[in-house]
Amino acid sequence: MLSKTMEEALNTQVNREFYSSYLYLAMSAYFESANMKGFAHWLRIQAKEERTHGEKIYDYILARGGKISLGAIEAPKAKWASAGKVFEEVYAHEQKVTGMINNLVEHAIKEKDHASFEMLQWFVKEQVEEEANASDILAQIRIVGDVPGHLFYLDHHLGKRG
Ligand code: FEO
Repeated sequence: MLSKTMEEALNTQVNREFYSSYLYLAMSAYFESANMKGFAHWLRIQAKEERTHGEKIYDYILARGGKISLGAIEAPKAKWASAGKVFEEVYAHEQKVTGMINNLVEHAIKEKDHASFEMLQWFVKEQVEEEANASDILAQIRIVGDVPGHLFYLDHHLGKRG
């Protein structure tokens, strides 16, 4: 059985993962409107992944006999100045999420909640990958130059994400 405080903290994280999904979907729509279909595709897949992250925690809460409490999802912004600005924000957002996961791990340790600690280790590993992906794409944008005309190859490459 989950403690009430852990149940609340995990429900909050479900909301944050769904917000991440919403944010990346908004970014995908921004690239669609700029006719950069590869970037749009990459972020669309990322948005789906975030939804699965939220659902993973959702399923865990239920498996532990906890209660689901779904709050309102904050509206993301809709416009960015450039591809580089989008990925600066993706990278910063992922670093923020890593901080949230680390706080949950600390919480599990404090409560001696071994099951939650174990479940959260998947997210600890996932965040290493999430930060690396965002920072790699940001670095590539900076190499070619943060200008739509220069990003054609990268757009093509990101469009291949399966
Ligand atoms: Fe669910 Fe991108 O971390």
